[in-house]
Amino acid sequence: MMKLWMAPAGLHIEPGRAGDARDLARIHAQGFYRGWSAGEFDSFLAEPATPVYIACDARRRIAGFALIRIAADEAELLTIAVDPKFRGKRIGQALMRAAFEDLQLTPARKMFLEVAEDNVAAIRLYKGEGFVTTATRKGYYPRPDGSQATALVMMRDLG
Ligand SMILES: CC(C)(COP(=O)(O)OP(=O)(O)OC[C@H]1O[C@@H](n2cnc3c(N)ncnc32)[C@H](O)[C@@H]1OP(=O)(O)O)[C@@H](O)C(=O)NCCC(=O)NCCS
Repeated sequence: MMKLWMAPAGLHIEPGRAGDARDLARIHAQGFYRGWSAGEFDSFLAEPATPVYIACDARRRIAGFALIRIAADEAELLTIAVDPKFRGKRIGQALMRAAFEDLQLTPARKMFLEVAEDNVAAIRLYKGEGFVTTATRKGYYPRPDGSQATALVMMRDLG
């Protein structure tokens, strides 16, 4: 059965495939100070325990993605990134909702994530999707200037 979810801006969401790694690494590098290599994304794409959801157009040009790790009854959002040209169009929201729906088919009953406490856009997205802060981790994220940012740990029931 083909998995497919609707997304805004004429896009749809589907599972990532082998061959997407370079696009994922490029979009990830535009969103984070510390990028991940295409090789790392190749490994995630090959592993059923780390599902990837991509937002793309009919020609499969990728505008954003979410990467999740499933371990027993917990899911963790490892990363989510939307191409800067496509931000603010609710593509991040559509990616999260596709993941919530698809994770119903797995044993995962809760989703966790970590986010820098000053990442206003991401925190607003997560709160809007029902995540609550369960802990803070000081000195968690390295910054380009050598300082370290505090992370919020957030959690949501998957039902
Ligand atoms: C976080 C990110 C994935 C959000 O994706 P997006 O497609 O732009 O987000 P959406 O359009 O779905 O917005 C969802 C919510 O976030 C809010 N939001 C999005 N961008 C925002 C911004 N720059 N400032 C404030 N709020 C913002 C939206 O208003 C919306 O909230 P609302 O429903 O209360 O109006 C995107 O900004 C990104 O790729 N950032 C860089 C990577 C990153 O920080 N990832 C998260 C790491 S934990």
